[in-house]
Amino acid sequence: MNNQDIINEVRRKNDIVDIISEKIPLEKRGKNYFGVCPFHDDTNPSMSVSREKQIYTCFSCHATGNVFTFLMNYEHKEFNQVLNDLAERVGITLNGFKAKKISTKYDNWYNIYDFANKYYQNNLLSKEGIDAREYLKKRNIDDETIKEFEIGYSLKDKDSLTKLLIAKGYNLDLLNKVGITTNDYDIYHSRLMFPLHDLNGKVIGFSGRIITSGKQNKYLNTKETELFKKGKLLYHYHIAKEAARVKKSVIIMEGFMDIIRASTIGIKNTVATMGTALTKDHIKEIKRLSNNVILCFDGDEAGVKATISGGELFISEGLEVKVITLPDSEDPDTYILKNGKDAFFKLIDNAIYYSDFKIKNLGHNRNFTSSEEKANYIHEVLEETSKINDPIRIEIILKDLAKRFEIGYNTLEKSFQELKDARKLNKKAPLITKMKTTQLKKKDKYQKASLNIIYYMLNKQEIIDIVASEHLVFPTEALRALESEIVYFYHKYGFINEADFYTYLAPKNELVNLLAEILQLDLKPTLTKDELFDYFKVIREYNLKKTIKHLEEKIKNTNDPSEQIKYAEEIRKLRIGES
Ligand code: GTP
Ligand code: MN
Repeated sequence: MNNQDIINEVRRKNDIVDIISEKIPLEKRGKNYFGVCPFHDDTNPSMSVSREKQIYTCFSCHATGNVFTFLMNYEHKEFNQVLNDLAERVGITLNGFKAKKISTKYDNWYNIYDFANKYYQNNLLSKEGIDAREYLKKRNIDDETIKEFEIGYSLKDKDSLTKLLIAKGYNLDLLNKVGITTNDYDIYHSRLMFPLHDLNGKVIGFSGRIITSGKQNKYLNTKETELFKKGKLLYHYHIAKEAARVKKSVIIMEGFMDIIRASTIGIKNTVATMGTALTKDHIKEIKRLSNNVILCFDGDEAGVKATISGGELFISEGLEVKVITLPDSEDPDTYILKNGKDAFFKLIDNAIYYSDFKIKNLGHNRNFTSSEEKANYIHEVLEETSKINDPIRIEIILKDLAKRFEIGYNTLEKSFQELKDARKLNKKAPLITKMKTTQLKKKDKYQKASLNIIYYMLNKQEIIDIVASEHLVFPTEALRALESEIVYFYHKYGFINEADFYTYLAPKNELVNLLAEILQLDLKPTLTKDELFDYFKVIREYNLKKTIKHLEEKIKNTNDPSEQIKYAEEIRKLRIGES
């Protein structure tokens, strides 16, 4: 079997509906299955999965592909990894087989970051790194941790890294673009360097910390680039992936020093943002690790605020949230250093539900002197309690509240029930979710005819040869390329199906997008010969118009009357169909 055959075999044996439904709930409706698309922020089931075609398509964000692309995007894995996983799942041995590495526009970027990462790490061990090593020692960060987190050091001089990278053949424009240099100079000087990894574990930037107190910012991050987006990156995610699966929870911390410290006591299911508030994108990625999150932010007021804002986001996404509160002015790093491993494990075990944390917090800095003030507070607590599903916890909270404010439990219970009923009424959620079929850009008839022809080539293989023998020239480069890829694939393998064709086309991104658009057309299943030939006619008309326009240009651009006559004659012949 050749490579493509093996890949197709693995794909065929892994049913896409089975694989996707292991990750997200799918519901059968008619021929297809529907679920909430994990690739954009949504709560509607806008992703459709076809068992027949073995592909998925999101009507809202247009994510589309086969079982390979789904897992690559969902689990943030490379093609080869996914291929291995799926082959293993169905008992196919790949025998050292490796699919060709798909080269991307970012290969050079990754090479630069990898080089810089190694360079910084070497500096730390060199004689210039002595102060940095001293600093790390003072902070109780040992050699093993330095290695594990690939901690490095940037030198004092102005352009040592830039020079090396230029000597390796990278140009300055690129170095500026990836955020390693600025105006011919290194960006980082005399800072401890922490590589930042993307969700797959590739280095895509750095954070540099000063080692002496001064006026500079404590941390300096790589600027935002095409690869590094602060609103998406989560520090330590690539390691937490495995650990979260084992521990069945993920711990969110504020700083990456906290993550590093926790790792030294064996807690690896941790992630942190780059010092920013949690975004919806962050939540979406964290949700893939586990549905149980534990917030462990700094013990100061900012930490409480971050707990509340983060907690609300997680809750609204349906996650189970617990909270660890640290003593004021401590962060996980300092807490662990001061109190040790066991004390921290105890904090994790004793983490409280977010709702309890919030209820406790609602009472902070309030003095219940007036009855109005008390009633307000009680209503806020009831409101919060109404979000809880566990009847036992609800009863505990209500009983506490009743005791604390000396109200009858029944009164409280009644108010609570009223609140819940009112809420149910408000929330009469629309049962039928509207598919947001985003209006495709208005197409002219030539484009429409081209798209339709290609649609039927993919759905009715017998017309592939008819189309090929027509030698049609489609209006755009992408359409022409896609047509010839279909013909090529069909002749090489003797069949074509959308799912395998996706894998084949994957390295050609713009063609995949075009393919996705075409497959969403959902045209009627039958096509008569006449209809097909009508489409051909439209394409020919387009080409004719184009040729005539071209000739007219030529007439305009020449002053030679005999040339002009020649072109005019050609146009005449074309118009009457003589040529
Ligand atoms: P240490 O002081 O080294 O222990 O760091 P920390 O992890 O305790 O950091 P801190 O709690 O002060 O801040 C939390 C996170 O915010 C850090 O991990 C950084 O990602 C980010 N951060 C802190 N200071 C700065 C800064 O000066 N600039 C930027 N860009 N980010 C910062
Ligand atoms: Mn700290």
